Amino acid sequence: MKSEEAETPSSAEQLREALIVQLRELGAVRTEAVEAAVRAVPRHVFVPQVSLSEAYAPERAVITKKDEDGVDVSSVSAARIQALMLEQAEIRPGMRVLEIGSGGYNAALIAELVGGKGEVTSIDIDPDAVDRARRFLAEAGYGRVNVLLADGEEGEPVHAPFDRIIVTVGAWDIPPAWVDQLAEGGRIVVPLRVRCLTRSVALEREGGHLVSRNYELCGFVPMQGVGERRMQLVVLHDEPGDEVGLKLDDGDRVDAEGLRTALAQPPVEVWSGVTIGGMEPFDGLDLWLATAVPDFARLAATPSARDRGIVAAASPMGISTLIDKDSFAYRKLRPTSPERTTFEFGAFGHGPDAQAVADQLVEHIRNWDREHRSGRAVFMVHPAGTSDDQLPAGRVVDKRHTRVTISWP
Ligand SMILES: C[S@@+](CC[C@H](N)C(=O)[O-])C[C@H]1O[C@@H](n2cnc3c(N)ncnc32)[C@H](O)[C@@H]1O
Repeated sequence: MKSEEAETPSSAEQLREALIVQLRELGAVRTEAVEAAVRAVPRHVFVPQVSLSEAYAPERAVITKKDEDGVDVSSVSAARIQALMLEQAEIRPGMRVLEIGSGGYNAALIAELVGGKGEVTSIDIDPDAVDRARRFLAEAGYGRVNVLLADGEEGEPVHAPFDRIIVTVGAWDIPPAWVDQLAEGGRIVVPLRVRCLTRSVALEREGGHLVSRNYELCGFVPMQGVGERRMQLVVLHDEPGDEVGLKLDDGDRVDAEGLRTALAQPPVEVWSGVTIGGMEPFDGLDLWLATAVPDFARLAATPSARDRGIVAAASPMGISTLIDKDSFAYRKLRPTSPERTTFEFGAFGHGPDAQAVADQLVEHIRNWDREHRSGRAVFMVHPAGTSDDQLPAGRVVDKRHTRVTISWP
């Protein structure tokens, strides 16, 4: 007897065509080359644990492993983000490409893009991921992809140099090996975390540093191994179910006790007059705030903490927050009409300087609206040890191997 799915009219080929239409609509597939790759590779072969329709759902990442804390550490990424990153990479036939983080499917897409004259190497730190990727790649007819067990921190010296290095795991820094193994005119596409925010950044060499060509909002499982670097969480309220904390990055320090006391004080609300449509993305505002605010964090809170009035907004990912010693202010949205089609940005301030920090945050929001709303930031990556006078104007974030800057031309 046929399975339920085999009886439905949606064959894998039809679902793949439907996926392409959706990826085009989402702006993730932009070129004929990436479209042809998505059409060619049977994604369902790489995710046999989910149904055919889930395999071809554009936003569906398929988790393949969690760590002991329940954090996702391995997955086959969502088709939308894979297509976006491949467009960022601008892979052409004949290129040599390194993928860091192996799920199999993305390496097969890359194999389609580089064609028979190119070479694809994919490395993963997890032997299970390597086994899985090798098995499914062979099954789908992409046995020519080299899949190797290695920590991405060292790149893959044997098959270097690479025209493209595509990192498919959340990175906090750019290790020197990636730059050393990049061919002349090469490009690195990497989900880079800076000040708690992750953007998939396409970087190219320019003189002795890297400069971004474009970037996209994304989320990824965290890097393991030598390059592992998790965000810190400063707990502000720890009643079970009502947890509130501040996520900090890049070694930033705060007055935890002072900020805990601040949260217990009633907030001051300030509204900016800056509005946004309900469907309009505002990740650009967060990136601007991460650039402009000297002490920046992300306030994470459970829905229950919000419902009980401990904070005014809830997000497990965090909400952009300005900190000034023992006071802080976080961004908040309120609807401007009963239909909830537009929203206004504001700030909720807590602590002895609640009014001042809320005013400052609102001023940054207004500044973004006036000067940067339609603009794009530029990321640059200079080697650690580069002196300040060699860096562009903007926010400088010191990493282990590099100094990352975010500027707004
Ligand atoms: C999102 S998955 C990769 C998805 C894959 N590219 C695909 O086809 O969808 C991220 C992978 O990165 C791997 N990883 C984590 N840290 C790593 C490291 N330091 N070096 C290499 N791989 C790493 C994880 O084991 C995991 O399998």
